[in-house]
Amino acid sequence: MHLKRIAMCALALSLTCGGMIASAQSTESQAQKAARERNWWKNAVIYEIYPRSFQDTNGDGIGDLNGITEHLDYLQKLGVDAIWLTPVYPSPQVDFGYDISDYRAIDPQYGTMADFNRLVKEAGRHHIRVIMDMVMNHTSDQHPWFLQSRSSRTNPYRNWYVWHDGKGETATSPGQPPNNWESDFGHSAWQWDPKTRQYYYHAFYIQQPDLNWNNAAVHQAFKDIISFWLERGVGGFRFDAITNLFEDPSLADETVIKGKDGKPLINAFGDPVLDDSKTNNLPGVHTVMQEMRAHMDTFDSASFPGTRVLIGETYLRNIGELRKMYGTPAHPEFELPMDTQLGFINKLDVAAFRAKLTDAETKIGRNTPLLVFDNHDNPRLDLRYGDGVHNLAIQRVISTVLFASRGTALFYYGDEIGMKTTPPTRKADVKDPIGITGWPKQKGRDGERTPMQWNTSANAGFTSGKPWLPVPPTAATMNVQDEQHDPTSMLAWYRELIQLKKTNPAMQHGDNVMLDISNDKVLSWMRQAPGAPAVVVSANFTAQPQTVNLAADGHLSAHAHLHKLLISPGGSEPQSVDRIELAPFGVYVGEVQ
Ligand code: GLC
Repeated sequence: MHLKRIAMCALALSLTCGGMIASAQSTESQAQKAARERNWWKNAVIYEIYPRSFQDTNGDGIGDLNGITEHLDYLQKLGVDAIWLTPVYPSPQVDFGYDISDYRAIDPQYGTMADFNRLVKEAGRHHIRVIMDMVMNHTSDQHPWFLQSRSSRTNPYRNWYVWHDGKGETATSPGQPPNNWESDFGHSAWQWDPKTRQYYYHAFYIQQPDLNWNNAAVHQAFKDIISFWLERGVGGFRFDAITNLFEDPSLADETVIKGKDGKPLINAFGDPVLDDSKTNNLPGVHTVMQEMRAHMDTFDSASFPGTRVLIGETYLRNIGELRKMYGTPAHPEFELPMDTQLGFINKLDVAAFRAKLTDAETKIGRNTPLLVFDNHDNPRLDLRYGDGVHNLAIQRVISTVLFASRGTALFYYGDEIGMKTTPPTRKADVKDPIGITGWPKQKGRDGERTPMQWNTSANAGFTSGKPWLPVPPTAATMNVQDEQHDPTSMLAWYRELIQLKKTNPAMQHGDNVMLDISNDKVLSWMRQAPGAPAVVVSANFTAQPQTVNLAADGHLSAHAHLHKLLISPGGSEPQSVDRIELAPFGVYVGEVQ
């Protein structure tokens, strides 16, 4: 094609040919642009927002959509490509939005559809895509589908939910639930409904009845809902609780897990721990995902070009199960199922990190890993990885693993300023219902959902009213306003790391190659891409200084020089790869020359 065009120009030597070349170039750049749009998610930085806690603009103490729009400049400067919003649909808010009563509207607490449209438009101007949470496993018990379903056994919506008879029911008693299955949020997963005298299944709260995914009408309803939001320009969805969609039709009991003493293990709610073999990750999930992905792939409009991505909430047993979530080239599923294998090791352990990163590099085909270390359901990084003394340095280690590894990085609002988990200290203050049921062993998820810390004014600039959760005292020193002017702050560190991820060629496309693989104190790896200088990364996982030799295993020459890209505070600049000195929990990132 190219050769032909050049030959024609040589013959004609005319102005028209000049025009052809110009248009060939512009065609090429359009093609490049199209490829960029198509692949935007492959090295992307995705930022999770808990809208309730991000920024309140109307003084009701609850964050809103306009509050997110207000901070798009901040997010763009941070280097964010997409924001994932936890649910903002109308909801009784039992599970703070994960109990949806209308999938095609915005909860007035968060704003209006006009506010939403403005957010998507303004985000687009900032090159940021908006990803919605989509809860397909269950609805609110106030959703019209469920109100219909529970109204009579013959209602057309009866079969939209999971209803079963109990065991040993009599005229005066409901008997026992159909089996021993438990809700993730404590106690039996079956709720007796006196009106129609059957139990319904709920994997989460009683107010979150599970939908019946064996019913084709449920599939169609969600395809229509997905279209509704795609037509409004959203960049994709995060599919909530996706592995919970199906339950084993045999209704057989799950096995009780026993401890070393032979007695059943008991969870924070006082219930026996069950294997989840009959209720989690059943094969039907893949069939649904193939159907949803095929549906998504039909969308790519001129006004909102580019791939619409599917992100999965995929807590899975092993990397083999994670690989299946990508589907196959003929039957693709998620673009980005979350890799929770690495992020929830919950312990700074070099060998475990190395093994999980190697899995992400070698055991998911050429798919893109989606690395994630925290979210609105788990304590923040300080509680799961910190040692109480070097928490911020440790967070620099974690964020380096997140942004300097191959793939897409997902992080949670507030990480970038070092926000800490601030759990309630009294049961009376708990807002998350599981914290009330499970107190004191399970304090709920309020601690990781506290208001974003913008500045040192009242309520950290989150609201002019009374915040729905208290603003942590750490806001006095950890806040955006102070940190954005401090080159040694966590915010500066995040910005620099993200900038490197986006602009350094090896960091953008390079493979991950583990270095110094017998070292159990320092995790080191190299990013290597054809035609680009390699980048080495070393992160000290200990509270003592360490020295590493990255030439020892033969991947690099001992004489190779290094050009510093990033060093954590207190670190010194090495001259060559065979002697890199690291401060306690210190990090070094350098280009090999
Ligand atoms: C997911 C959400 C969590 C919610 C649950 C039930 O795990 O992340 O916040 O409570 O689903 O919808």
